[in-house]
Amino acid sequence: MEKRTEETVKIFDDAAHGYQAKYMDVGPYADSLSLFCESLTSTDSNILDVACGPGNVAKFVLDMMPGLKIMATDLSKEMLKLAKINIPSADTILMDAKDIKTINHKFNGIVASFIFPYLSKGEVIKFIADTRELLTERGVLYISTMEGRNSNSGYVGPSDGVQMYMNYHEAKYLEEALENSGFDIVISKLQAYDYGNDNKGTDIIIIGKLKA
Ligand SMILES: C[S@@+](CC[C@H](N)C(=O)[O-])C[C@H]1O[C@@H](n2cnc3c(N)ncnc32)[C@H](O)[C@@H]1O
Repeated sequence: MEKRTEETVKIFDDAAHGYQAKYMDVGPYADSLSLFCESLTSTDSNILDVACGPGNVAKFVLDMMPGLKIMATDLSKEMLKLAKINIPSADTILMDAKDIKTINHKFNGIVASFIFPYLSKGEVIKFIADTRELLTERGVLYISTMEGRNSNSGYVGPSDGVQMYMNYHEAKYLEEALENSGFDIVISKLQAYDYGNDNKGTDIIIIGKLKA
């Protein structure tokens, strides 16, 4: 595993329970996740949730559409343990988000909720291209990530504490990557988030649907 990925995953392993306590409620993203569900062609769709964390997003979409079949992946073993509890019907798999192309299965929808902060610009563009190969006809891709100039990406956190490398992404090149891979953009929006103290900013949420 690459050193930066290893550092990131260790932080999420250590923080898994705290992350679950803070982010299990995906209320701020409910409208967009509902639109993702409505964009699926059938209520028993196969969904891939990449970097599922504690299964918060998968649980939300399953509560909305109980017939969905979910494959949930993450590189943090601790996150996957929580996901197994929160979404017992899902298949949970230890996998690097950079390797999704190796999955030998097709999906009607793919969720990439806050994995892009841990992937470089080149990696997210490749990821979007890879999803095209994994999606069925008229398949739907949901992306949420932290907005910012990509050139401002770098380590964040206290200088005397744990620092994590964060990649900021720009809507323009994400939309271009979707269009180049044959997606229509269902929605692309910026949304403010505010979790207090220095944890404020803007998210990008994009839903793409493969052209007919
Ligand atoms: C911010 S959390 C997002 C969790 C959930 N999807 C959500 O939207 O709340 C990021 C997740 O990405 C996982 N992660 C980070 N780098 C990864 C990688 N290269 N491959 C797979 N998972 C990764 C972490 O373990 C963590 O669970």
